Amino acid sequence: MNILGIETACDDTSASVVQDGKKILSNVIWGQKQVHQKFGGVVPELAARRHTEVILYVIQEAINQASVDFKDIDAVAVNSMRGLLRSVVVGVSAAKAIAYSLNIPVIGVHHIEGHIYSLLLSNPELSFPFICLTVSGGHNILLNIVDHGKYELLGHTLDDAAGEAFDKVAKLLGLGFPGGPIIDQLSSSGNSKAYNFPRPMLKHPNYDFSFSGLKTAVLNVINDLKLKNIEINIHDIAASFQQAVIDVLYEKTIKAAYEKKINKIGIAGGVSANNLLRETFKSIARKKNLNIYFPELSLCTDNGAMIASLAYYKYKQGNISDMKLDAYANIPIGR
Ligand code: KG4
Ligand code: ZN
Repeated sequence: MNILGIETACDDTSASVVQDGKKILSNVIWGQKQVHQKFGGVVPELAARRHTEVILYVIQEAINQASVDFKDIDAVAVNSMRGLLRSVVVGVSAAKAIAYSLNIPVIGVHHIEGHIYSLLLSNPELSFPFICLTVSGGHNILLNIVDHGKYELLGHTLDDAAGEAFDKVAKLLGLGFPGGPIIDQLSSSGNSKAYNFPRPMLKHPNYDFSFSGLKTAVLNVINDLKLKNIEINIHDIAASFQQAVIDVLYEKTIKAAYEKKINKIGIAGGVSANNLLRETFKSIARKKNLNIYFPELSLCTDNGAMIASLAYYKYKQGNISDMKLDAYANIPIGR
């Protein structure tokens, strides 16, 4: 069964053809970095306009690269439940138009659930249950993945997501956008102990996160250095900030695995590409009896393949949508 997956949650326009939920035939991603770079963050109105401009091209390219024809597509899947609303609308409208014209089912799915399937696509051996941290610019959520479609919400961010904090701190330091990969790279030559930034909510007994205070702490340090006319070492600030974020993500996730007595952990979403995060989790896996899973790098950030893969299992469960399918900015998951 070939499913065309469409993803337009934020600043990536993506379409992919996936066979039987597992085999990626194509995965085309049109990023909008150059559109948002000068603003230091995603501008929702511009993101939606860019999706509208390129979506048909991206879909056609996904069909071409998969070496199939539209008549070979059995269903169209789309993220309809999470993201910048006007951007999600573009994907949903395109998916419905294609499904209608080809007379095939349309399947609306949840963006965050999609990230879970980027783990399953990259690690076919990964079995249920597993603890899953999905962490990106728009979401930061810790789940117990019990089975296909069965998720227990353990915790989520109360304010900024970790990726958002990376992007905002990069903006404070006058670096480019998106900030995560830049801070990741700069940190490799910085001292992560130079500044003792707070580890927000680390000692709280629950699994919730909060990163907006950390960003303010970085701002205070920058302002203080400027006032004292001391040169700002961006490598040290980047490394110390990154260490604080990863410490929190790591400790909360490991705690959840121990408390739930589950020895498999998957980490997905844009921040899962982070080198320190990957090293930190891999190192505990070597020391303790834990198995750690990451998506391959091309599937860390938003992509259509994860949407198409998830939709295959929804379809198998008879969970399909119809022409009334609507777009939503934030449907809760796992509660
Ligand atoms: O999953 P994604 O493409 O979009 C959202 O759903 O938000 O993730 C994008 C986010 C951005 O905030 C970006 O800065 C962050 O992922 N990111 C990283 C890295 N690569 C991307 N954060 C830290 N380290 C990285 N290497
Ligand atoms: Zn995402």
